[in-house]
Amino acid sequence: MKPFIYYSVVYSLLGASAVLAAIPLSSIQRVSNAPTVPNKFIVEVDTTANIPNKRAYARTLDAVYDSIKARDVQFDVNKEYEASGVFVGASLTISSTPDAVALEAIPGVKAIYPVTLFKAPAPVEKHVVSGPGDAKAIPSIFSTHVATGVDKVHAKGFFGKGIKIGILDTGIDYTHPLLGGAIGAGKKILGGYDFVGDAYTGANEPIPDNDPLDQCQGHGTHVAGIIAADPNNPYNITGVAYESSLYAYRIFGCDGSVSDDIIVDALLKGVEDGNDILTLSLGGADGWTSSVSSVVASRIAKSGKIVTIAAGNDGSDGSWYTSSPGNGIDVISVGSVENTVIPVQQALVHGVEHAPIPYYTFPALPIDGEWPIYVLTPNDLTIPNDACNPLPDSTPDLSEYLVIVRRGTCPFVTKVANIQAKGAQRALFYDNGNGPLGLSLDFPASLISAEDGLFLVEQFKANAPIKLSFPQGGEIVNIQSPTGGLMSTFSTYGPTNDFYFKPSISAPGGNILSLLPVPLGSLAVMSGTSMATPFAAGSAALLLEVKGKTAATARAARTLFETTAVSVRSARDELSLPQTLTQQGSGLINVYDALFATTSVSTGQLILNDTANYKALHTFTVKNNGKTAKSYTLSHQAAGTALTIQENSIFPSHGPVPLVQNAANVIITPSKFTLRPGQSLPVVALFTPPRGLDTTRYPVYSGFIHIAGPGENFHVSYLGLAASLKTKQVVDNTDVFFGEKIPTIVDSTGNAQAAPTNYTFAGEDYPTFLFRLAFGSRVVRLDVVQPDIKVEAGLNNRGLFDGHWFTFPHLVKSGSFARVKVVGPVAEWNSVSRNNEDFSADGNGVNVVAMDAPTFANGTTIPNGSYRLLFRALKVTGNRTKQEDYETWLSPIVGIFA
Ligand SMILES: *[C@@H]1O[C@H](CO)[C@@H](O)[C@H](O)[C@H]1NC(C)=O
Ligand SMILES: *[C@@H]1O[C@H](CO)[C@@H](O)[C@H](O)[C@H]1NC(C)=O
Ligand SMILES: *[C@@H]1O[C@H](CO)[C@@H](O)[C@H](O)[C@H]1NC(C)=O
Ligand SMILES: *[C@@H]1O[C@H](CO)[C@@H](O)[C@H](O)[C@H]1NC(C)=O
Ligand SMILES: *[C@@H]1O[C@H](CO)[C@@H](O)[C@H](O)[C@H]1NC(C)=O
Ligand SMILES: *[C@@H]1O[C@H](CO)[C@@H](O)[C@H](O)[C@H]1NC(C)=O
Repeated sequence: MKPFIYYSVVYSLLGASAVLAAIPLSSIQRVSNAPTVPNKFIVEVDTTANIPNKRAYARTLDAVYDSIKARDVQFDVNKEYEASGVFVGASLTISSTPDAVALEAIPGVKAIYPVTLFKAPAPVEKHVVSGPGDAKAIPSIFSTHVATGVDKVHAKGFFGKGIKIGILDTGIDYTHPLLGGAIGAGKKILGGYDFVGDAYTGANEPIPDNDPLDQCQGHGTHVAGIIAADPNNPYNITGVAYESSLYAYRIFGCDGSVSDDIIVDALLKGVEDGNDILTLSLGGADGWTSSVSSVVASRIAKSGKIVTIAAGNDGSDGSWYTSSPGNGIDVISVGSVENTVIPVQQALVHGVEHAPIPYYTFPALPIDGEWPIYVLTPNDLTIPNDACNPLPDSTPDLSEYLVIVRRGTCPFVTKVANIQAKGAQRALFYDNGNGPLGLSLDFPASLISAEDGLFLVEQFKANAPIKLSFPQGGEIVNIQSPTGGLMSTFSTYGPTNDFYFKPSISAPGGNILSLLPVPLGSLAVMSGTSMATPFAAGSAALLLEVKGKTAATARAARTLFETTAVSVRSARDELSLPQTLTQQGSGLINVYDALFATTSVSTGQLILNDTANYKALHTFTVKNNGKTAKSYTLSHQAAGTALTIQENSIFPSHGPVPLVQNAANVIITPSKFTLRPGQSLPVVALFTPPRGLDTTRYPVYSGFIHIAGPGENFHVSYLGLAASLKTKQVVDNTDVFFGEKIPTIVDSTGNAQAAPTNYTFAGEDYPTFLFRLAFGSRVVRLDVVQPDIKVEAGLNNRGLFDGHWFTFPHLVKSGSFARVKVVGPVAEWNSVSRNNEDFSADGNGVNVVAMDAPTFANGTTIPNGSYRLLFRALKVTGNRTKQEDYETWLSPIVGIFA
C-alpha cells in the first residue's frame, strides 16, 4: 500500500530483528498515511471511444476535459501523455471536490489511477560486507562478468554498440571520466532530461530543465557505471555494455520521493527518444500488477522495447511483497544475487611481521597515522557482550589507541558509545562467527574477521609493539564472499497477489563496485536490486546487438533470459534445495547462453496458480536452431517449497522464507526426443501439486522443467500455490503488534475507543481509524453506517462517491455488497499491499486514517448523529460485488457532533 523504496541496503539493518514489544497505540501519529498523493490522479482516455461531438475536438483528451468541467470540477493539468498505442491521458490536480464516480463514467475515460509516491534510493557509499572468508586477493577480472558469461560475450567482440538505454533514476554525473566526461551527440551519454530539479522531494513542485546532471545523490551514476563504465581503469570496473549509448532521465531530486505521474512521463519520453531499453532501479512494495507505472511499463515492453525494473529490497519482509513498477506484467523484474567477491580495503600492520588485515569497509576508513591497539578484554576471547556496558573506571584514555572490540549481544552503536565515553576515536570490531555484516556508523570503525581479531588480541597480550595504519585510496582487495552466488537476503520475494511470476530473473546486485559522482568520491560499492537491474539492462543491450535490434527480439528477451538462466541454491551447501523461484525467478542470468544457444524454448514461465484456479496442463515448444540434429532429455527439478505464512499465524514468514522439500509431481511428454535442424516439438507438462503440506502455511511450490541438449541446458520455470488464496485472511484482527486488538479507532487521548464516544472535531478531538493488512486486498473501504446496522441487511443502493485521497471506487450497482446500507463512504483504496512490520515513521507497519474533519469521502459534511464505521477488505480472488467475499469489522458507536 505504501510506496517504498529501494535500492541500496545496509546489511546491519536487515539482520537486526529485535523482538518487538507491543507498540503503544498512543505512539502512532494520528495523521493519515494514505498511499497516494492527495487530490491528484491520472486519467487515461480511450482515443477510439465514441464521444458525443467528437469532431468538435482536436483530441479525445480535450473532450474529456470539457466533460469534467461541465461537472463543476476544477482542475489543473500537470502533464499530458500522448503516446498513441501505449498511453494517452493526463495527470490532473483537482482543486474542488471531485466526483470520481462521475468522472469514471465520462465517455472516453478508460481508467482513472491514483498517483503513488516512490521514495528515493538512498545512496550507501560506505557499503561494506564480508565474512570470514580467506583474505587472498583474487585475480581481478570483473567477477560479476565471469559469473554470468558477460566476459565470454565481450571476448567475442560485443559491447552493446548501437544500442540506446534510457536510465530513469537520480540523474548521472556525465562528467565522470569513465562515463565519457560529457553529454551530447557523439558521447556515451547522448542526452536526457531532468524532470524534477535538485530541490524536488516528491512533496513540492518539480522544476524541470534539460540537464540530467546528478552530483548530489549518486545512485544513478552507480547504475550507469554498471551498464557502461569504460574499461582500462585502475579498478577494473567495466560496464556490461560499455559501447552502448545512454539517456539519463532524472526523476529524483537530491532527496525524497517521486510520484507515479513523473515516472510515466519519463517512461514515455524514453520511448520517444528512441531508446531500445529502459531501466528503472526504483519502486515500492505493492503486491499487485495494476499501478499506473506498472501498466505503462508493461505496455512499453509489450510494444517491443526491453524494460528492466528492480524487484525490490524487501526480502526480510517475506513473500507476497513485490514492488511496482517491477510488477508490470510484461517487464523483466530483476532480483539480486551476491557477487562472488567483496571489494574491501586493508589495514597495514607495523612493528610485527603480518600480512595486511582486510576490513569490511569501502572506501577506506578516514584514519590518518599509525595507531597502537587497545583490547578491552584480552583475557576473554569469547566474551559475548564486549563493550555493551559502560567501561570500568580503570580504563585508560582511549583516544591514543585503535580500540579492538568483539562483536556481539548489543548494537554496534552501543559499543561505540561506551568506548567513546572513554575517549575512543577509532575501533575495529572482530567477528564472533555471525558472518557478513556491513557497518554504517558515524564513527570510524569496521568489522574484521575473527581470525584477524584473535591475532590482534594475542599481540596485545604479548605487549608486542604493534601498530596499524589505514592507507587512503589504497588498493582494492577482493576477498571471497561467503554468500557469493546465492540470492541476496534483501532481494524481494513474490509472487504477486494475482499470481504473476515476479521476479523474472536475477543478476549480480550484492557488493557491486561501480561509479559515484566525482564530487562524492568517484566510486563505491553498493548493494541492491538497483545494482542487479542495470546489469540485466546491459545484458539486454548485448542481446539486441547480437540478435538484431527488432521488436521481436525485444519481446523474446525475457523468455531467452529465463530459459537460459542458472538455478541458484538456497544455501552454500552443494546439497541444499534450489532457492524458491519466488525469490530467484528463473535464476541467475546467463548472458552468453541467452545470446548464443542454438536451441529455443517458447516460454519461460508456467503459472499453475492456486488450488481454486489451478491449471494443471501446460504446453511449450522446443526448437533446434542449430545446424545438426540434437537429442534432448527433459526432467523435473523441484526448488524448495516456500512456507509463505508463519505457523499458527495469519502473518507472512519473514525472510529468509523457510523452505521444505515437498515437491510437485510432473509428467513430461515426451521427455526424450531428437530434433533435426529447424525442427520444433511441443512438450506437454501435467502437474500435480505437492502433498503433505499444511495449507495454512500457504506453500508456494516452484521449480524447473530442465531441458538438456548436447552441451546445452535450458529450463522452463513453474510456480503454484498448494492452497486457495480466497481462504487467506487479509485483515490483521490480532493484538500481536499493539497489545490490543485491531482494527481500532484511536480516540483523542491516543487510546483505543472501547465505549460509545462523541467527537467534536475541535482540535484533537477526532477519531483515527487504524488497521493493518496481513495480506494484500483489491478493495479496502471504510463507510459510515447507522449504529444499529446488520451488515447482511439492507436493500438500498449505496451512495456513489470518491475520496479526498482520490481513490477510485468502482461502480457496484448490484450484488450483496451494494445491499449493505451505508450512510456514506469515508475512503476506498484499490489494489492495496499488505503491511510489513516496520513501525517507524517511514515504515509500512500500519495504515492510519485520521478523520480530522467530519466529512464523507466526497468532502460533504457528515450530519450530526451517532454512527458506526464499517471497514471491509476484499479477500484475494474475491468478487467485489459480493459482501460475503469481504472481511468486515464494525466499530463501536462514534458520535459525530461537530
Ligand atoms: C585489474 O586486472 C588486471 C588484469 O586482470 C590485474 O593485473 C590487476 O591487478 C587488476 N587491478 C585491480 C585493482 O584489481
Ligand atoms: C490466477 O487466478 C486468479 C483468479 O482467477 C486470476 O485473477 C489471476 O489473473 C491468475 N493469475 C495468473 C498469472 O494467471
Ligand atoms: C453523544 O451526544 C448525543 C447528543 O448530544 C447524546 O445523546 C449521547 O448520549 C452522547 N453520547 C455519549 C457517549 O456521550
Ligand atoms: C457526498 O456523499 C454523501 C454520502 O454518500 C452523499 O449523501 C452526498 O449526496 C454526496 N454529496 C455530493 C455533493 O455528491
Ligand atoms: C461477480 O459476481 C457477479 C454476481 O454474481 C457476477 O455477475 C460477476 O460476473 C462476478 N465477477 C467476476 C469477475 O467473477
Ligand atoms: C452539531 O452538533 C454540534 C454540537 O452539539 C452543534 O454545535 C452543531 O450546531 C450541530 N450541527 C448541526 C448542523 O446541527
